[in-house]
Amino acid sequence: MFEQLKTLPADPILGLNQTFQQDANPDKINLSVGVYQNAKGATPIFTAVKSAEQQLLEAQTTKAYAPQAGDPAFLKHITALMLGDELVESLGERVATVMTPGGCGALRMTAELLVQSREKATVWVSSPTWANHFPLLQSAGLTLKTYDYYSAETRGVDFSAMLESIGAIPKGDIVLLHGCCHNPTGADLTQDQWDSLIDLMQERELIPFIDVAYQGFGDGLEQDAYGLRLAAKKLPTVLVASSCSKNFGVYRERTGAAIVITNSAEQTAAAKSHILSAARRCYSMSPSHGGAVVGHLLASPELTLEWKEELEFVRKRMNKLRLDLAEGLNQAQNKIDFGFVAESKGMFCYLGIPQQDVLTLRSEFAIYLLESTRINVAGLSEQNLPIIIERVADVITRS
Ligand code: LMR
Repeated sequence: MFEQLKTLPADPILGLNQTFQQDANPDKINLSVGVYQNAKGATPIFTAVKSAEQQLLEAQTTKAYAPQAGDPAFLKHITALMLGDELVESLGERVATVMTPGGCGALRMTAELLVQSREKATVWVSSPTWANHFPLLQSAGLTLKTYDYYSAETRGVDFSAMLESIGAIPKGDIVLLHGCCHNPTGADLTQDQWDSLIDLMQERELIPFIDVAYQGFGDGLEQDAYGLRLAAKKLPTVLVASSCSKNFGVYRERTGAAIVITNSAEQTAAAKSHILSAARRCYSMSPSHGGAVVGHLLASPELTLEWKEELEFVRKRMNKLRLDLAEGLNQAQNKIDFGFVAESKGMFCYLGIPQQDVLTLRSEFAIYLLESTRINVAGLSEQNLPIIIERVADVITRS
């Protein structure tokens, strides 16, 4: 049956993480996959999440199927967290949310909806974008094309190129945007840039498909929702894929949501029914645990407050580590100005060093970053930072 199959190469992110796990070097450092690590290098469970989980398990009396669209508390509160109460109220039945297995599930279910709605739907993604956007969306039947986004020269967003590129996209096409904390570059749009972008998209009748996987990791929970909320306020149709993996730290629970906004309650109901039908033919319904935990947490003002404080701590610590990395690298060498590292947002950042240096860091020092030069800022720690600075400076000075 499978004689003709060839083993596929490993996934660029998960595969590298696995290579790291197998590396016997006791001093190895993992800056590959996007997982938060504390000062001890552990990925602890948020205490608010743990409490919600304990309360939930105690109160749970059945394992019968949960509603197919997902835990009702989760659906209500995650939509409000992302869009804000006011907008949820004004959108009314124009907005619908379906729980999905992680952000990947949300991307895929939305892709399934798009394919059902338009035979040859094209989604435009930023250049570069998260590596998994391509296989995830293309295999649903969508055509993917890229728009200009990042300048390797300035090591930031090339906004005029982005506007020009998006301005040339055929009317009605779908444009995938990173809501905040761009993965892989960490180069985000300012609020003014979001304003201009959404105006352009309105004029060109483009449909935003916003991937929000790091809300609360950039400038704060509310600030990180700026672009998303602006789009939802101004445009008739907005698609959102949300992930709770990072901001609730529930990576393995696969907890996410697909949110659809259209210009009528009827269209939204139809779109939702297509997402549910796609889920039914792929996996029937989402696993319930993660969503139930997040829903329970967000329904409790005390647990929500506790979680927000923990998330703020994580955000500030990542920002401090990012600043220290930029400063340390600038002090340790003078080949590259790493000031841009301090400007980047969220979990990731391109180091922008030669690719050969990435490989040297891995082979000589067991420091793992992606070949694109993306580092997981949340993998830095007070302890490993001096070593990383010394070794990165050493390698780039030599090359
Ligand atoms: C990442 O980009 O490292 C994370 O979003 C994890 C993943 O699934 O790739």
